[in-house]
Amino acid sequence: MVVFRSNKLRNIFYAVTALIVVCTIYLNWTPTPASVVPVTVFEVPLNERQAAFWKAFKPILESHAPGTSEPTLREPAAAQYFNASTTEPRPDLVTLSDDDLHAMEEAHAKYLREVSASSRLRPVHSAGTRGLVTTAGQTYLPVFMAALRMLRRTGSTLPVEVYMRDGGEYEKHICEHILPTMGARCLILSDVMSKAAIEYYQLKVFAVLFSSFEEVIWMDADCFALDKPEILFKNEPFKSKGLVTWPDFWASSVSPLYYKISGQPVPPMTERQSTETGVFLVSKKTHWDTLLLAAYYNFYGPSHYFQLLSQGGPSNGDKETLLHAASAVGKPFYAVSERVQAIGHEKEGEILGSAMAQSDPLADHALTSEGKWRVQDPAVASPPRVFFIHANYPKFNPGEDVFGTSFETTPTIKPDGSEGRAWTAPADVLTRFGSDAERSYWEEIKWVSCNKEVDFKAWKGKGDVCSNVEHYWQKVFAEPHDDDPKFVAD
Ligand SMILES: *[C@@H]1O[C@H](CO)[C@@H](O)[C@H](O)[C@H]1NC(C)=O
Repeated sequence: MVVFRSNKLRNIFYAVTALIVVCTIYLNWTPTPASVVPVTVFEVPLNERQAAFWKAFKPILESHAPGTSEPTLREPAAAQYFNASTTEPRPDLVTLSDDDLHAMEEAHAKYLREVSASSRLRPVHSAGTRGLVTTAGQTYLPVFMAALRMLRRTGSTLPVEVYMRDGGEYEKHICEHILPTMGARCLILSDVMSKAAIEYYQLKVFAVLFSSFEEVIWMDADCFALDKPEILFKNEPFKSKGLVTWPDFWASSVSPLYYKISGQPVPPMTERQSTETGVFLVSKKTHWDTLLLAAYYNFYGPSHYFQLLSQGGPSNGDKETLLHAASAVGKPFYAVSERVQAIGHEKEGEILGSAMAQSDPLADHALTSEGKWRVQDPAVASPPRVFFIHANYPKFNPGEDVFGTSFETTPTIKPDGSEGRAWTAPADVLTRFGSDAERSYWEEIKWVSCNKEVDFKAWKGKGDVCSNVEHYWQKVFAEPHDDDPKFVAD
């Protein structure tokens, strides 16, 4: 018990108590976290952030040119299916002098040092955001709109940014009145980077860097999901890896010289398949340096890196840039191992493919983390469900060559000449859809084609696209048919 002998002592006690109270409050008080403040309130507009980023980034890219002479190819790598037990050596078809090799090695290392040291390279995105990024323009815009309808059909609420090459691809009514009602907005790349700087097939990684999202799912305009992509962000393998890619049909054709230049051991040919870039997931939080290096590979793609990363093999281009950039900077990634499947018509035991089916990475990862590699032995487990369909050959654009016999795979024509479905084989792959995705897709294509509000530049002079789609729909999807495929396993 405290007994006060004098007023003076009492006053000292009060003063000390008050001081303790003030200190306690001060030490325990923390300001409101910045994330509680709505990010948009003080945010610099996206186009200004993009411009600032490109202004800082472009000179760095330009000052680390890989060298003077370009790698040359003795012959293009053969289109070889991936074989998980092959003993074949890696193709080695690029010619590059020792001096040029060293110059490329040095430029690669210096570039990486500069981007990691640069404080001016501020990311464009807002922290904590997720969204879908794609490019579409001209004949791709109707195809993209059907894919966007498919995305919303899954219940996905992911915001979408669709990048267009330049003002010529921008369609005012669609961009300002139709797409916003579907959670998508158009952005023009030439507003940020000059039109001549970059070719269409190099745009992906730049569009991802310029997007406002921190975690990105990329989908080509002709690619759609059968379930909400939100699931993929929230689970393994994306959660811990921050980069997920899907395979192509082919064996890797990356040159051994590439590994030398980027300071990596040469992996065996059995390690993984080549990559397909119709869809991928990437986090700019964990893979910022990966994306900057991938941008370098794309910037110097046509002159140097595409040759080194595919040696003229099938679908030469940007496809290996992301995964290899991640591995060069020592970042984790998950390359889905379940094989991509061609779907289409069967002809003499072969599949005339008009689309590719890519698998659920959650299920694939669950298998491979138990050491079950179906790519080596399909008998170890049943396959994952199909998650994405990449309807690329031809594009399912009713204003172009999806109908009739003008395209070699004639997807809408049955062998007897009547109209039918595009995806009738292989039966076991179709059962992994879980639902009649082709019918759903055509329902959305019909909406896109027959909505009076929607009027694409690419369909000017293409006749009555809506009635062509209606006709096909009536013949093929309006009623069930005896030969309809099954979409669930028995
Ligand atoms: C895969 O490679 C192994 C080993 O070289 C070979 O025995 C097998 O026939 C190959 N499989 C295919 C489908 O080419």
